[in-house]
Formats: sequence, structure tokens, C-alpha cells
Amino acid sequence: MSRIELGDSIQLIKNIETESVHLILSDIPYGISYDEWDVLHNNTNSALLGKSPSQEKAGSVFKTRGKPLNGWSQADKNMPKEYYNWCSLWAKDWLRVLKPGASCFIFAGRRMAHRCICAMEDAGFIFKDMIAWEKDTAAYRAQRVSCVFDRRNDIENSKVWEGWKIGNLRPLFEPILWFMKPYPQGSTLTDNILEYEVGAFNERILKEQVTLNVGLEVCSNILKVQPQKSDRGLHPTQKAVKLMEILISLATLEGQVVLDPFCGCGTTLVAAKNLNREYIGFEINKKYYDNILKRMKEE
Ligand SMILES: C[S@@+](CC[C@H](N)C(=O)[O-])C[C@H]1O[C@@H](n2cnc3c(N)ncnc32)[C@H](O)[C@@H]1O
Repeated sequence: MSRIELGDSIQLIKNIETESVHLILSDIPYGISYDEWDVLHNNTNSALLGKSPSQEKAGSVFKTRGKPLNGWSQADKNMPKEYYNWCSLWAKDWLRVLKPGASCFIFAGRRMAHRCICAMEDAGFIFKDMIAWEKDTAAYRAQRVSCVFDRRNDIENSKVWEGWKIGNLRPLFEPILWFMKPYPQGSTLTDNILEYEVGAFNERILKEQVTLNVGLEVCSNILKVQPQKSDRGLHPTQKAVKLMEILISLATLEGQVVLDPFCGCGTTLVAAKNLNREYIGFEINKKYYDNILKRMKEE
């Protein structure tokens, strides 16, 4: 039953039987031009992939940065809408394959998550909650304003703006969006749990994780999980296996089916396998797909 397929998940999911999946857990492209596979818009501004002359000069630090949006260009303004349209391409099929009452966890990034939420709601999902994944460290690239004035030899303004920055605060949390497929009209959630074995969450497992001290300080919707050494090196946005294990055990039982349509180097699948769940993964990039196969063999 478990399988990993190379290809476009928007097409591949059409082959999955209706109401056959117990959980979708996916770290989807965030649509912020982080990498080639994350470009989900028609904005041709050369700065978007770090290719403007000044970015080229600044070197590799800018390459995967994504461009700060100006706010005035129509092409920039279109990007969130284009992300909504892209999410709408798959959201209905995600709803179709899930069992009634089943959960769907999506890592969608802070900047565009709202568009993903709207696309999922418009497809028929209920937006249940937002979990915060809290980390100890994160790359932080805000630029000091005084440095810009220094470069212009504007000493006076450099002093005035000392301590001010352009950009964002250090991003120490990532939102995990929690959706639910509605259960049938006329049923109740508990009856639905009896029929489809989904719809509740396992608080006991969260409490156990707190006791095991994996970084969860209290049993709540803040999951503090630090990536380990083994959580790095296979994919530029690789997630922590432990984090995926917590999310899977929160919403499924052993033997149930977990789907990740954008599985990268297969972190969701590794976690599902560790927990004796069935898994289905789709990945469009051959290099990452090969990494998954190698990883699953080694695991
Ligand atoms: C954010 S990454 C997932 C990383 C993953 N969490 C991990 O730990 O490796 C999203 C992945 O989706 C893949 N992807 C993008 N569009 C896709 C599509 N239409 N079908 C299948 N995979 C796609 C990208 O190649 C990328 O590897």
C-alpha cells in the first residue's frame, strides 16, 4: 500500500481513491521564490531569484532570499492571488481523498498562509487552528539602516537611525495550519469517529512527548522541537522527523494512511514509517525523489 511516486502531485492525486486517506501532512511550497520549485507566480522581476545586478554582486547570500515586495508594483501585488490560484488547483482533490472528519496539517509559511487558508476553505475544508512550530535558531537577514547611510557618507542620518533595521524580526516560529474535512451532515463528530476512526486528537501522546522532554514545555498548540543533525543535508527546507512524528501521532492510529503530496526528501514518510503508518508521497524533483528512496532504504 505505501508508495512514493515521482511526478506532479496535482495530477498524481487524481489516482487516489476517494475517502481513502486518514491524514494529509505536507510542507507545501510557500510561494516566496525560495527556490525554482517555489516560484508559483508570473512576476518576471529579475530580483525575485536573486538575479538583479546588486544581488549578483552581493553573492550567494541573496540567492535564495526571495525579494522584499515593494508594494507598488502590480506584479508584486498579484503574487498572493497567484498563490491562492495555485493552492486552488489541488485543494479540492485533497478534500476528496480524505476521510470525513480527517485532519490536514499544512506548513505554508507566514507570508502567504492566509491565501492557502482561503483556498482550503473555498474548497470545503474547515480551518480548525494554527499550531506554532517554535525553533531556537533561524536565519535572520534584516539589514541595518545605518549601514546604508554609512555607504552614502550620510553620517548624520547614520547616527539618527542607529539600531533600526529593514526587513523582518528573527523568524523563530513557523505556522502549521490545521484543517478538517467536515463530517457528514446529520452525523456527529463522535459517530464519525466510530465510523471513520478520525476526527479526534490524541492528547495523551502530546503529554508523553512533554514527559520525554523533546522540547515541548507544555501540552499546547506551541510545539518546540529542535531539528537534529540528521534532519539536515537532504533538502533545503528539510523538516524535523520528530515534529512530523508528533503531528502524525496526534491525528492517526497505527495502520492508517498518511499522504504528503509535496514530500521533498520524504521527512513525513520517514516519520509515518517509524510509527507504523502507511504512507503515500509525491515529489516532482528527481534529485529529491532519489534522496527519498535512498533514505527510506537506510531507515
Ligand atoms: C517545502 S518542500 C518539502 C520539504 C520536506 N518537508 C522535507 O522535509 O524534505 C516542497 C517540495 O515540493 C516539491 N514540489 C513542488 N511542486 C510540486 C508538484 N507539483 N508535485 C510534486 N512535488 C512538488 C518541491 O520539489 C519540493 O521538494
